[in-house]
Amino acid sequence: MAQSTSTSQIFGHWEAVTAVPTTTMSLDAAQLSAHWRRNSLSSDYWAAYAALHIPETVPAGWLRRDDVSYVLSYLLNELFENCAKFSAGPELAVHFQAWLLDERMVFQLTNHIKPQGERPFITLIEELLNGDPDELYFQKLEANAEQDLGGSGLGYLTLIKDYGIQFGFRFQRASGESTAVTVQAHVNLREPS
Ligand SMILES: Nc1ncnc2c1ncn2[C@@H]1O[C@H](COP(=O)(O)OP(=O)(O)O)[C@@H](O)[C@H]1O
Ligand SMILES: [Mg+2]
Repeated sequence: MAQSTSTSQIFGHWEAVTAVPTTTMSLDAAQLSAHWRRNSLSSDYWAAYAALHIPETVPAGWLRRDDVSYVLSYLLNELFENCAKFSAGPELAVHFQAWLLDERMVFQLTNHIKPQGERPFITLIEELLNGDPDELYFQKLEANAEQDLGGSGLGYLTLIKDYGIQFGFRFQRASGESTAVTVQAHVNLREPS
């Protein structure tokens, strides 16, 4: 299932984008966590910024600028909040990259976890990528109602199920104490037919 090299493991819809990113930003997970509103501020900023890539009027079948802005606010907020909530270990840098292309946009967020955190996260990713999103959604809703496990596990699922976002994940061992996790999100600018 996973493609792997000696240094990285890749899951899902992953594309090695070689173009120079349209935008990049570096943040600190501890600060995102301490000042929670920075997550939504950063998401809303980059959503509005990226949405200007869409012409004021678009042909039928393409997402309108307002829709793109809305979807990106939601998507990026989820991804920034995940970096704030789940970063662990000695390395707390968060990197944001975006590629605004003709028919799609690609966003990447990198944060770091402890190497022992890889396994459980990969198990969850495989479940997300291989399962039926609707079924998994209801399973997780029920599980959450029964006990609060800290994370809901509903973030990616909602984005896959309701927003048609495709995700790729890359794990790169940075040191004995730190693994870089990169989440790649693909947003199609044409409505699914
Ligand atoms: N950027 C990340 N770094 C480390 N772990 C993550 C990251 N994103 C998600 N996870 C793990 O995947 C789980 C599911 O994430 P998500 O679908 O966003 O739901 P939630 O944030 O509500 O838990 C999280 O509970 C966490 O264990
Ligand atoms: Mg989340």
